[in-house]
Amino acid sequence: MRPRTASSRRIPAELRPSSADETRRLGEAVGHAAEPGDIVALIGPLGSGKTTFAEGMARAIGVRTWRGSPSFPLMQDYGRETHARVPFLHADLYRLTDPTSVHDLGLEDYLRGEYAVAIEWPESAIALLPADRLTLTFAIDGDARRIRVSAAGPRGRALARVLAA
Ligand SMILES: Nc1ncnc2c1ncn2[C@@H]1O[C@H](COP(=O)(O)OP(=O)(O)OP(=O)(O)O)[C@@H](O)[C@H]1O
Ligand SMILES: [Mg+2]
Repeated sequence: MRPRTASSRRIPAELRPSSADETRRLGEAVGHAAEPGDIVALIGPLGSGKTTFAEGMARAIGVRTWRGSPSFPLMQDYGRETHARVPFLHADLYRLTDPTSVHDLGLEDYLRGEYAVAIEWPESAIALLPADRLTLTFAIDGDARRIRVSAAGPRGRALARVLAA
């Protein structure tokens, strides 16, 4: 039997993590594969698991000073983390009330290819994001969660493939 390398895996359409730990582990899988320039958009309602996933990514990247969801400013820059394998940015734009102010954030500076970026509530910044990205759409299903996987471009697809069981 041919070994299932990351590149031969199919991209899963949907994931159903039944616990926060499972969601964190999915984030870790993406974090292990993350490279500079990779973008992960995390869409979904309050409490659906976006931060839990981002925490898994941060952990696998080697961030040891996880600061949770950013309030003000809306971005946490782990680029100077000495243990991190890749500079990592975690953004949460939930509190960005005026969509025009997305340009004042400085998010674009992190989208030039130096950082791996995970971004919650990315709706107001979608126009700024490269098309080559992994987009995960979370939904709450009782105690469980559903995560719809959408990937475009070579890096988006590479990240999506590591989510295959
Ligand atoms: N399968 C699951 N995946 C993720 N979280 C789960 C799951 N089951 C239960 N939970 C719980 O749901 C909550 C998810 O919170 P989390 O902060 O990750 O959500 P969020 O999408 O980032 O919310 P917000 O939009 O408020 O930032 C946690 O309390 C977690 O323990
Ligand atoms: Mg969150």
